[in-house]
Amino acid sequence: MARNAAPAIYQIYPRSFQDTTGNGVGDLEGVTRRLDHIAGLGVDAIWLSPIYVSPMVDGGYDIIDHTAIDPLYGTMADFDALVARAHDLGLQVYLDQVLNHTSDQSPWFLASIDGDEAMAERYLWCDPKPDGTPPTNWLSQFGLPAWHWNHKRRQYYYTQFLPQQPALNLRCAGVQTAIAAQMKHWQDRGVDGFRFDVVTAFLWDTVMLDNPPATPEVHRKVAGEVFNPYTYQDHVYDMLPGDGASYAEKLRAWAGDDAYLFGENTSGNHSIELAMAFTEPGRLDAVYTTDLPANRGNPATVADMIGRAGSLQRIVGWLSSHDQPRHGRGDASDAVLALQMAVLPGPWIIYQGEEYGLPQPDLAFRDVTDPFDLLYWPDGPGREGARVPVPWDAVADNYAFTKGTPWLPMSWDRADLQRAQAQLVPFYRQILEMRSNLGWHTASVEACHANDDRLDLTIATTAGARYRGIFCHGSGRADDAPTGNVLVSADRLRPPRDPKGWHGAIWRL
Ligand code: NOJ
Repeated sequence: MARNAAPAIYQIYPRSFQDTTGNGVGDLEGVTRRLDHIAGLGVDAIWLSPIYVSPMVDGGYDIIDHTAIDPLYGTMADFDALVARAHDLGLQVYLDQVLNHTSDQSPWFLASIDGDEAMAERYLWCDPKPDGTPPTNWLSQFGLPAWHWNHKRRQYYYTQFLPQQPALNLRCAGVQTAIAAQMKHWQDRGVDGFRFDVVTAFLWDTVMLDNPPATPEVHRKVAGEVFNPYTYQDHVYDMLPGDGASYAEKLRAWAGDDAYLFGENTSGNHSIELAMAFTEPGRLDAVYTTDLPANRGNPATVADMIGRAGSLQRIVGWLSSHDQPRHGRGDASDAVLALQMAVLPGPWIIYQGEEYGLPQPDLAFRDVTDPFDLLYWPDGPGREGARVPVPWDAVADNYAFTKGTPWLPMSWDRADLQRAQAQLVPFYRQILEMRSNLGWHTASVEACHANDDRLDLTIATTAGARYRGIFCHGSGRADDAPTGNVLVSADRLRPPRDPKGWHGAIWRL
């Protein structure tokens, strides 16, 4: 299938999507069974969070073998069936590529511990300082020490997330050959594109120097929560996002021109400028930053992003994910935000279940398994709430997610779910259809005015049509709306819990 300029992508976190075996964990066959629902929404593609062999310490982002399916999710035959069905339905399939690290159970890493120097080069092993302490003051993005001692090698290894995720040296020729091969492996099985994990953390400075403390200005901008000590440093030596941007040319060369490639930017500093650098010609198609989910699609943020990027063609729009709290509220704001996302030019990621307006669930401490959430409990919204399995049926046991016990407790509001299935889901279908039929996704931004409460956006499609959208977030007013007929409005969807002042509509000019 040809590469799509600005696809609508449905993100699937497989272990929380649909269980078919009764073990309480979602699987690939479950994904295949629900593909009709996804295709029915009118999206162009699915992105599967990692399905590879993993000890699941970091929810599958700690990988032992990037080319094999974890038995928890099924078999390669299940995967082939999924791809075949997706393609039959006109959906492209994008896979996660976690290039920054492997699991500490990877044969590469185990061999490096055992003295295989070719394998050791694939990671960052460093001697201690003369006093036995780690080579630098670097911290992992989770705020843990970045360096971990291995007594067999009498060296430290470097990590950017958990101690069980040794960082890969992406400059190493052996690693590059392996990455190219693993991408080809999946493309040979019909995969159409890739989502690259944390592209802004690909490379570090090989001169091992301490990061300076963050100035108050930098502190504010380093991605991460203030309770995480990672935000206390200016990451000048452990993160070379600029060099990572040109590394994207290798990814493009390995994947080829037909593959759709997008990356995750976890660098708060200059997030949009970096996204633009990563998406120059011959690099990735798009990058997503945390600007939008960090404040639930705030109008001023949208305007700021447009101002800095010029266009949003290369920036992925999204509001929720398996890492970010769900943005749903089960009220009128859900439809307003969906419409706003639909009319923003550029790619759009819809996180599984957002079409049901699912709100962020509260989990009890005893139910939490994510090491990041456990580390900072009860600070922050945490990551695991967004991973509570998707409810499919408002009346069925376990909402038809599983016949067993779901791996995280599910306590969704059944009446809200029924209402969303009757109203919000058809609205998603309607606006996704408009987005692609009317060409909003490839349009350019003609005008954008915003404050914290109100976004007023005019776009021009490549076919020459112009559309104006006005979105009021709470208290903004729409008195100066065009007098002509409204093309589509989120206001007809007003569930009982209806916060005042949320409106959204689009006019054809
Ligand atoms: C970003 C992923 O989305 C997140 O879930 C993971 O923990 C880190 N990268 C490390 O791979």
